[in-house]
Amino acid sequence: MKRAVVVGSGAREHALAWRLARTAEIVVTPGNAGIAAHGITCVDLPATELEADLFVIGPEAPLVDGLADRLRAQGKVVVGPGVDGARLEGSKAYMKEFLTAAGVPTAAYGSFSDVEAALAFLATMAPPYVVKTDGLAAGKGVLVTSDLDAAKADVAEKLSGSAFGAAGTTVVIEEGLVGDECSLLYLCDGAAATALAPAQDFKRVGDGDQGANTGGMGAYAPMDVARGAIETEVRERIIAPTLAELARRGIDFRGVLYAGVMLTATGPKLLEYNVRFGDPETEAIMAVVDGDLFEALATIGRGEGAPAVASVGYAVTVVLASPGYPERPRTGGVIEGLGPDGQLASPLEGVVIFHAGTARDAAGRFVTAGGRVLAITATGPTIDAARRLAYQASARVTFEGMVMRTDIAAAVSGS
Ligand code: AMP
Ligand code: GLY
Repeated sequence: MKRAVVVGSGAREHALAWRLARTAEIVVTPGNAGIAAHGITCVDLPATELEADLFVIGPEAPLVDGLADRLRAQGKVVVGPGVDGARLEGSKAYMKEFLTAAGVPTAAYGSFSDVEAALAFLATMAPPYVVKTDGLAAGKGVLVTSDLDAAKADVAEKLSGSAFGAAGTTVVIEEGLVGDECSLLYLCDGAAATALAPAQDFKRVGDGDQGANTGGMGAYAPMDVARGAIETEVRERIIAPTLAELARRGIDFRGVLYAGVMLTATGPKLLEYNVRFGDPETEAIMAVVDGDLFEALATIGRGEGAPAVASVGYAVTVVLASPGYPERPRTGGVIEGLGPDGQLASPLEGVVIFHAGTARDAAGRFVTAGGRVLAITATGPTIDAARRLAYQASARVTFEGMVMRTDIAAAVSGS
């Protein structure tokens, strides 16, 4: 059997490992308590010390840090771009410059290190105001507000460098776009790209998209409204010019190109690129992906084409987060309702629980160990069926102060 190493420690990596395990032997580094309990081997060794036929790098930080380059220098087959491609996610200012050069439709913007210049530009914009830190901020460096004073204060705070360190010394101020958001993940072999099932991510902490931005509180896939004509338009106006610009810059992008797209009244516009699988979108996508995913990923890793990947049915993922998430999550709470394998103690068919931040206490019980704790994922023949099952499963798990949205996929499910 072929062997794959998955790098990372969250629910996204749990989902990738779980799905790849259908056709390959899997090792996750470092993984987490719930992945190990699920019968997937976890080792705490650097990826560069492991042997495998395929390496899949989950999070953005090791990509920006050059892990894919180091593995390729050892002759390994890797899903994940090198430092050059990872800049698309590592620097929003670079990404916006890239999009402009490529002619990709995106929000108008300015990029600033000087407070006065930034505030002057902000004054020329119309609400909603959008202020972003330039570097990696784990999805939390973005303010979208209609309150000009709040936007001004945010610019000053971000440029002071106090909130995000070096990531905060440049800000990007953008035109506010309005519409439905869609996450389109493409398997890219450096020249061609093929779309996985479109997904929708729920970024705000509260129901009705209220409250702070988070790493993601839930997702569903496929997102039917983003299929057909929209997918074609995104491919022609966003992906094709991006592939051409990557080639022009000599960037051999082998990995997942994740397009965060706003479906605006004037057509799809690119909000951002990520250079990896999305979290929690991947938890939903992995539950519906059909066929031999290992082979598809190995093919792009070898630069030998981008195979079509089909999907079956629908999946809904509901994230359970720690009390105080996202600002100040409090961890260590005992999780009730899980069996020794980290799955539901009273199982439901069609449900799988991906662990984001869990650990075992001295008594072997699962305890919360991160902001996001569990990503409960359910599949069904319709989005409605998947959604009902996901919430039925969520009701069987609890911990003190648990934070959960109750409206994941509600607007599209008719219930
Ligand atoms: P980002 O980290 O760039 O993905 O931004 C996080 C979230 O902020 C996005 O998923 C959107 O919901 C929102 N956002 C980012 N940029 C814009 C924009 N230009 N207009 C409206 N909302 C935005
Ligand atoms: N779901 C958003 C992200 O992965 O960045």
